[in-house]
Amino acid sequence: MKLSLTHYLIRCEREHGLDSDLRLLLETVARACKTISHAVGKGALGNVLGNAGTTNVQGEAQKKLDLLSNEILFEANCWGGHLAGMASEEMHGPMGIPVAYPRGKYLLLFDPLDGSSNIDVNVSIGTIFSVLPSPLTGEDAGEAAFLQSGARQVCAGYTVYGPQTSLVLTVGHGVQVFTLDRDTGSFLLTQSDVKIPVDTCEFAINMSNARHWETPVKRYVDELLAGKTGPRGTDFNMRWVASMVADVHRIMTRGGIFMYPRDARDPAKPGRLRLMYEGNPMAFLIEQAGGAATDGRRRILDIEPTKLHERVAVFLGSSNEVERVTSYH
Ligand code: AHG
Ligand code: MN
Ligand code: MN
Repeated sequence: MKLSLTHYLIRCEREHGLDSDLRLLLETVARACKTISHAVGKGALGNVLGNAGTTNVQGEAQKKLDLLSNEILFEANCWGGHLAGMASEEMHGPMGIPVAYPRGKYLLLFDPLDGSSNIDVNVSIGTIFSVLPSPLTGEDAGEAAFLQSGARQVCAGYTVYGPQTSLVLTVGHGVQVFTLDRDTGSFLLTQSDVKIPVDTCEFAINMSNARHWETPVKRYVDELLAGKTGPRGTDFNMRWVASMVADVHRIMTRGGIFMYPRDARDPAKPGRLRLMYEGNPMAFLIEQAGGAATDGRRRILDIEPTKLHERVAVFLGSSNEVERVTSYH
């Protein structure tokens, strides 16, 4: 018999003192992800494809599924009494808890739908989430309450809506993978204590930005591309799904390095990915699986954020490769 998510979380409560409020919050997040998975699976039959006709705070065109997933996560989590506020990649500022419901001790942050450019072409997409303690238990959380380093996360996870729906979770005791059993609607534990190999011959980067990269990244990727006869003396393979969840999930499964470096396209943005919704949760998961995550200079989890929608350069995955490219900076 495989362990259900509920069973796993109750075990964490008994063995590691996981807070029962946090357990109930995570069950709610998982339920919301199941609803999103269902909507994703309907595709053209469910009127969920295409653009919404709106733009988010990052200046990106929103897809119908970006908005729907955002709404599903908010609706599911606003009444349980576990949260003092939520923040989403798709919203301008923090989303308050409706007056009718009590405020709790946690903050939930999410990228409701990661890999938006892949929605309409039926390629894997996902949801990324992060839980922080609220500095103001029982009170509404403003933007300042969310500005905590990733090291303070008490939980991080993502789901991949792919051939299977997987939920990958850490509450600070390693990384577990749950697969959605579509017959029963339960998330069942299918991989315990994931460990990322320290070495790899596979890398992920959007090569079309090569001309905009900084020198250390150019040097590192050039060395990989040089293969067997180059300084690394071995051939490297490349993969780029353009859904961070799918690229990270591959690395969780068989190792690799994922890079979205800072580039010169827009000097105001230190990278494309968002620290609070993408960088921090993925960095926590990767470190819990024995990998490393930096922005090329610092450990991502040590960065003190200055704004909710802050961008960050990301190098994560197999530790020897992440350490090498970081040392080139
Ligand atoms: P989102 O869909 O939440 O905006 O995130 C997309 C991110 C990430 O998932 C992916 O790794 C990257 O953007 C892809 O960027 P490019 O289109 O530049 O390759
Ligand atoms: Mn994303
Ligand atoms: Mn998104």
